[in-house]
Amino acid sequence: KLTESSGILYPYYFGDDPHVKLKNIKNIQSKTGDIFLCSYPKSGTHWIMEMVNMLVSGSTEHPQKFNFLDPMIICDQVLDSVPCPRIFQSHLRFNQLPASFLKRKGKIIYILRNPKDISVSLYHFVQKEGRIKYTGKWDEFFQLFVNGKVGYSSWFDHVASWEREKEKGRHPIHFVFYEDLKEDAVRELDRINKFLSLNHPNSFLQSVAECSTFTKMRKQKYLYHPFPAEVMDENYVDFLFRKGTVGDWRTLFSEEQNMQLEEVYETEMFDSKLRFSYG
Ligand code: A3P
Repeated sequence: KLTESSGILYPYYFGDDPHVKLKNIKNIQSKTGDIFLCSYPKSGTHWIMEMVNMLVSGSTEHPQKFNFLDPMIICDQVLDSVPCPRIFQSHLRFNQLPASFLKRKGKIIYILRNPKDISVSLYHFVQKEGRIKYTGKWDEFFQLFVNGKVGYSSWFDHVASWEREKEKGRHPIHFVFYEDLKEDAVRELDRINKFLSLNHPNSFLQSVAECSTFTKMRKQKYLYHPFPAEVMDENYVDFLFRKGTVGDWRTLFSEEQNMQLEEVYETEMFDSKLRFSYG
């Protein structure tokens, strides 16, 4: 069900030829104040989307729209209907974002999560996602994950490419770790507050953290989400908001798998300065 373009695998919503959609995304005309929230899948994207929407709107109202760019229909009519400042979410790499957005040096928040929890979260997701309905066993899926044979390809490559881009220091990119959000959401919100040049008081940041907890978000209904209707059926909360913990990898990983992932990490991320906590 995955399609390939320039060595990267894409999920079904990129169509038969991902190159077409990627080109359309590249050509989107950016607007002043556009913000991108980028991540590898299952890194906590919905959570950060909820919080950044609240920070930008200055209200703890649950956002009514989820502008996940990748499955959206990329046309002026749809993009212009998104209220400004537009907050888009995407799983693409830095150099795949709209050229005009990169040129105007729009702000990007990149959320990261440890690869062990991501692999487990993704495994549950692909089993339940209405168009994917993956039926393989965990051991098989684990090999696909470590070898980058999943949607958006290798986690290692994704994260390393974003880290390189951030290190160049040419573009405003802010990194947020899922595990840090779990540890102290208000502290991380304050960093985002400063990065986005917002001046919310600490009391508001606390309200945002309280209104976007896992339990609160699970109860919300997303009135609009660009996934196809059959994917957003009544079970969608179970895969979008499944467990929300750090360390769930222990429920599926064998000792050998743990060693294998750590070896691949050492090889692929040998020059990375990133450090993840695994719970
Ligand atoms: P689990 O499958 O481990 O529970 P994404 O939004 O990028 O698809 O990431 C999904 C993961 O983020 C899921 O992880 C989900 O439960 C978790 N998540 C979503 N909202 C959360 C929240 N408010 N707090 C903590 N984790 C959350």
